[in-house]
Amino acid sequence: MQIHTTIASLRAALAPVARVAFVPTMGNLHEGHASLMRQARGHADVVVASVFVNRTQFGPNEDFDRYPRTFAADCARLEAAGVAHLFAPDEAELYPQPQQYFVTPAAAHDTILEGATRPGHFRGVTTVVSKLFNIVQPQVALFGKKDYQQLMVLRNMAAELNMPVEIVGCEIVRAEDGLALSSRNGYLTAAERAEAPRLAATLRTLAAAVRPGQSDFSALEAAAAQTLAAHGWQPDYVAVRRRADLLAPAPGDALVVLAAARLGSTRLIDNLEIG
Ligand code: PAJ
Repeated sequence: MQIHTTIASLRAALAPVARVAFVPTMGNLHEGHASLMRQARGHADVVVASVFVNRTQFGPNEDFDRYPRTFAADCARLEAAGVAHLFAPDEAELYPQPQQYFVTPAAAHDTILEGATRPGHFRGVTTVVSKLFNIVQPQVALFGKKDYQQLMVLRNMAAELNMPVEIVGCEIVRAEDGLALSSRNGYLTAAERAEAPRLAATLRTLAAAVRPGQSDFSALEAAAAQTLAAHGWQPDYVAVRRRADLLAPAPGDALVVLAAARLGSTRLIDNLEIG
């Protein structure tokens, strides 16, 4: 695997490549990331990954400074997953001056769910992913359904801005007890880690209670949030939404149930497609 810290070096290496599959990450890689890399190999001759902890998508009171940086282990994992090129710029390479031009998500997508708790988060994501797309110029880019709203926002961004890239969504990789793998799981104490699978279990219970044709889910959402709160969680939301835009569903829409909740000082998110 070649490691590129500059845009010029990456572009020179990719110039002769006909078809590139790209997987952007913030590092501290786990099996969820590795599964994206392996799936990427089925889409192109060459897989490019990036590792960059993107300051502009973190709020002022979020975990940018303590976000785990594990570069050597990440390189070993990427190499094992068949990645040919790693783009790992420092902040000065990607943001040589404070960014003044941004890609702004649709307000309807930006202000709900994650966006309600994390104002400005998705603008940071859409802007850095646009920059990375322009640098890597991939034919295909893969993202996990773990960050379901991020995937929805990026799909809409790429479509509406006519970006010549196919966006592929990949299934969530979970631990045996159901907890979705996440870099933030490392923040959990042993007692919190034992409690953490309740988030996925609560989503499964809610999903099982949804009936075909139903469109008012407020009682089910409230009961699920109550279950979490009763076990020491502080839920930000539990919501049944339609998959396409994560807005309120109409009868017959394909559904997904999403939740975000704090356990101690760690904020976890998860979701489950229904049906
Ligand atoms: P990061 O949190 O590092 O995630 C990188 C990719 O891995 C995302 O597409 C995410 O959805 C996926 N992923 C994380 N955990 C997963 C799991 N358990 N199963 C499957 N996929 C999983 O998401 C970001 O970085 C950033 O916002 C980024 C897109 C890189 C922009 O900075």
